[in-house]
Amino acid sequence: MNYKNKEWCKSMSLTLDYNNMMAEYVGEKEGFTVKDFNDNKKLSSFAFNYVKEHRGEGMMGWTELPYNQKEIVNDIIATAKDIKKKFDNFVVLGIGGSALGPISVFQALCHLKHNELPKSVRKFPKLYVEDNVDPERMQALLDVLNLDKTCFNVITKSGGTSETMSQYLIIMDILKKKYGKNAKDHMIATTSLSKGNLIKIAKEEGLKTFYIPDGVGGRFSELCPVGLLPAAVVGIDIKQLLAGAGYMDKVCKNKDVRKNPALMSALLECLAMKKGKNISVMMPYSDGLKYIADWYCQLWGESLGKSVDRDGNVVNVGQTPVKALGVTDQHSQVQLYREGPFDKVITILGVKNFRTNVEIPNGCDNIPDVAFLSGHTMGELINTERVATEYALTTANRLNYTVLLPEINAFTLGELLFMFELETAYCGAMLNIDTFNQPGVEGGKNATYALFGRKGYENTKKEMDNSPKKNPEYFC
Ligand code: PA5
Repeated sequence: MNYKNKEWCKSMSLTLDYNNMMAEYVGEKEGFTVKDFNDNKKLSSFAFNYVKEHRGEGMMGWTELPYNQKEIVNDIIATAKDIKKKFDNFVVLGIGGSALGPISVFQALCHLKHNELPKSVRKFPKLYVEDNVDPERMQALLDVLNLDKTCFNVITKSGGTSETMSQYLIIMDILKKKYGKNAKDHMIATTSLSKGNLIKIAKEEGLKTFYIPDGVGGRFSELCPVGLLPAAVVGIDIKQLLAGAGYMDKVCKNKDVRKNPALMSALLECLAMKKGKNISVMMPYSDGLKYIADWYCQLWGESLGKSVDRDGNVVNVGQTPVKALGVTDQHSQVQLYREGPFDKVITILGVKNFRTNVEIPNGCDNIPDVAFLSGHTMGELINTERVATEYALTTANRLNYTVLLPEINAFTLGELLFMFELETAYCGAMLNIDTFNQPGVEGGKNATYALFGRKGYENTKKEMDNSPKKNPEYFC
């Protein structure tokens, strides 16, 4: 219940350190000045007011999730307790926003080898999130699951995503063959109440169902039952997660861009985009936060990558999000980030205090180039390398900023998720685009439907049949 203590909450505040975005540090050509912030006051005020005025409306229902789910949270906690009693495996079937949140929160807040721990230590079910339709992966999963001890959670906002529904069909068929009428006891549905096919199926089959509110799009859905149920099943304190989100929301109610971390990071990214920084690298220095980068890539890419603005002008905006992991990618990507094109903004996620530490013991005393490591800890090493990378990027005039978490816990993770969601909404408002649609995803979906002979897609099939055939000369 730490999150009820104001002082504790304050001590868990995230810090946005944007020194290395400033001209004083990365040079005038690349960096920004306080004058830039003042000159763009209209832009940041517009974004701030847009989010303030539209929160809770339309597709901005996600802004209210920290406050309006009391009953649902109680139902989720009770359901999770029941699942813990009956099952040893919990399998999410979903994709995109219906999978990336659960994956990233699990990785951040559970033991990094949770599924491999003995049950007596793990205490909660194992979690698998199946977000692809690779047949080998599905078979591999079925090979390791004891179905008697497995509960599935099919998650789809639209209630009709082909990948998720194909997984559902496969699993439900297996469950029905094995358990007959009791198959429903092994399946929970999370979907929209007002539309889609999964809700109809869930009613017909009598499945326990959680609802995704209408105003919450896939990539903004981690803090509703999409993410809260899997999190509660593996023992995560979901009330604390929501409290952290609410805390960040309050911090970001400040209209002064220099006191509002989500608004400031949105402005910095937006100004950087105007300078041709088309790539946004997300680089956590923590394995726990590794999949936050994947979650962010969907949030940033799908929300801001748009062809037209709100006035119908062709704009083709957006930054390509790239995930990297510190320190691992120092030995893979940082060469490019430091010396390649000046087209990136690098966001570093740092953790002040790790939940555990490992000392580097003495040894090789006669080899100074190895012995200098002794007496330090791995926590010191990873954080020193983070600071060193910031320095190396900055001295090469590369735009970078750091979001520092005092530690990783449900509260700070809630803050982080909510900060990125707000930042995305602010940035979309600055770009004058619809942040919450994803028309570009439809092209590939419709072509798949047409190729699979789905009714209603005959014209797409015809168009595809008439499109240029592949030229054998272009194979080698
Ligand atoms: O952000 C979105 O809405 C999408 O990327 C969805 O998350 C993704 O397409 C999966 O959709 P659904 O949850 O409807 O199955």
